Amino acid sequence: SSNAMWGGRFAAGPDAIMEAINASISFDKRLYAQDIRGSRAHAAMLAATGILTNSDAEAIGEGLLTVLSEIEAGDFPFSTALEDIHMNVEARLKALIGEPAGRLHTARSRNDQVATDFRLWVRDQADAAITSLTALMKVLVAQAEKGADWVMPGFTHLQTAQPVTWGHHMMAYVEMFARDRSRFEDARKRMNECPLGSAALAGTGFPIDRHMTAQALGFDRPMANSLDGVSDRDFALEFLSAAAICSVHLSRLAEELVIWSSAQFRFVAMSDKWSTGSSIMPQKRNPDAAELIRAKIGRVLGAAVALFTVMKGLPLAYSKDMQEDKEQVFDAADTLMLALAAMTGMMSDLTVNTAKLEAAASSGFSTATDLADWLVREAGLPFRDAHHVTGSLVALAEKKGCDLPDLSLEELKSAHPALTEAVYSVLGVHNSVASRQSYGGTAPDQVRAQVARWQGLLA
Ligand code: ARG
Repeated sequence: SSNAMWGGRFAAGPDAIMEAINASISFDKRLYAQDIRGSRAHAAMLAATGILTNSDAEAIGEGLLTVLSEIEAGDFPFSTALEDIHMNVEARLKALIGEPAGRLHTARSRNDQVATDFRLWVRDQADAAITSLTALMKVLVAQAEKGADWVMPGFTHLQTAQPVTWGHHMMAYVEMFARDRSRFEDARKRMNECPLGSAALAGTGFPIDRHMTAQALGFDRPMANSLDGVSDRDFALEFLSAAAICSVHLSRLAEELVIWSSAQFRFVAMSDKWSTGSSIMPQKRNPDAAELIRAKIGRVLGAAVALFTVMKGLPLAYSKDMQEDKEQVFDAADTLMLALAAMTGMMSDLTVNTAKLEAAASSGFSTATDLADWLVREAGLPFRDAHHVTGSLVALAEKKGCDLPDLSLEELKSAHPALTEAVYSVLGVHNSVASRQSYGGTAPDQVRAQVARWQGLLA
């Protein structure tokens, strides 16, 4: 039989496969709360503008609350034949209250309805991301405070470069996640305009009050162009873009945790809560949560690419292609929230092996730059010459199988006569990090200043 919502001109119902490709209820049921909220705001506005009688609007508003409680209680008869959440809710409303239900869709289309519902949903997710990122940043700042002067190797090319502090490394991620948070805040601001009242595409001849519905739904204002209102999904693309960048940051930190917890590094140990064993190798303690964060991020990046691909080349206004926006954003949001929660848990339970960190920082000629800088400062050498002299000492130490501070003063002087006993002080890793006092540098004082700044901002 033909469709009760739009079947007036149809004699027969859809092919079963048509129904399967067309229906979105299996996933867009997640929008039920937003759909009902939007419909209640719409009905109240229709009454306020005299388009509906108060009694019809009240019956609709009450009936929608019943639908809401049925869905929340888990006894709502979702129907694939009714395609999507919008028609499922409306059909149930009809069954509950009869004739007035048919008046709800006055001056509205599913096109502005879905655009509104989805904006409300994505807006909530932006808020959730902001909250989760704040929690993660607090944990990282606490790690940084604890380890403001724990010395560890800093790497470039994953080769030991210069000593840094654990606190400095943690605060680098705080900066990244802070930018991620501000991207969600920015996206939220731009998406906070209401498409409802755009109707199918051209607006409506009914004397609706779009400012009223926009306000009732917590939007800053109605969208200014009805074609734009029903046909863009840039708010979802922005959310996915912010999620994708945040995911990259999460994945890099996850990768560092995998490396740092390996037997070859042993910088950190994951708590039992965040690791698993092997069913065959009894010694194993695997960083599965970190690995899965690193991997699951692929879903977020994939979702962004998928929706960009759906949207590119779509002519204005609505096309059914846009129904494909939801599963991508749902999956990306779920993945991001799970990854943020897992990272927050892992980082707060992490045990740091400070002796290992310091031993690693002290090997690999990590203070070679300090030696070269000393020659520049104390002996007036041009940096390039100092670099060369230091390089020859590294080669010597490498040949002897020792580190720079193990070389004798005689050996040092053989490379350059200006080298004195005093140079040994800069070859120690603690002096090295303490000397990096430039703004944003790794000196514990600088790190503590950044920790204090962020503690203030996050309080
Ligand atoms: N389920 C649809 C979607 O997600 C709702 C809008 C349908 N509009 C239409 N004209 N078929 O996009």
